[in-house]
Amino acid sequence: MAALIAPSILSADFANLERDLNAISTADYAHVDVMDNHFVPNLTIGLPVFERLAQVSPVPIDAHLMIEDPDRWAPAYAEAGAASVTFHAEAAAAPVRLARELRRLGARAGLALRPATPVEPFLDLLAEVDMILVMTVEPGFGGQSFIDGTLPKIRRAREAVSESGLDVWIQVDGGVSRSTIERAADAGANVFVAGSAVYGAESVPGEIQALRELAEASAHAH
Ligand code: DX5
Ligand code: ZN
Repeated sequence: MAALIAPSILSADFANLERDLNAISTADYAHVDVMDNHFVPNLTIGLPVFERLAQVSPVPIDAHLMIEDPDRWAPAYAEAGAASVTFHAEAAAAPVRLARELRRLGARAGLALRPATPVEPFLDLLAEVDMILVMTVEPGFGGQSFIDGTLPKIRRAREAVSESGLDVWIQVDGGVSRSTIERAADAGANVFVAGSAVYGAESVPGEIQALRELAEASAHAH
């Protein structure tokens, strides 16, 4: 299975976002974390900055909305040009209606789960989404360590997707690095977000390539 690498610009230099987007031009997506200081205890960027990022990014944008009331705010990110818009299951009042709206606007629809949120309630709704994001840290900050306890959930999600015959992607986000990416890939993830690992590396393109190779070697093994 091809591994898709989505570096998170949360670890970029916020005074040089265009430069740091250009640094990841060999990646598959640029992962943009939108935080509202309510759903998570951190605040990043909102729509005006996001719109400009979408205009200048060399790669498609994968928006990760860690916000309350995504039913109200998420569609604007699709309209702003996000290739994929992921909202949190814990925050959405009507996740299926929202996913349908995002798709109607031309974006892929992603459903994110905090580490303690079970995937089971959503397994009958897989046809409504393009991606499940299994958070591998508590959302809110970069640089945290990967929670191995999320691996069984990744595995169950992958099994359900395989059984369904649908092409739903499984993304992992948080603590993904050379030392954890193989475990996530082996469990069934195919989209890998990495912030500190990529932007903290000596060579950003070198790190993207290394992560991709490790994930693909592992994914091919099963
Ligand atoms: C955390 C964000 C992540 C973050 C990951 O809530 O959703 O995208 O940037 O950072 P690392 O890869 O450093 O754990
Ligand atoms: Zn994220």
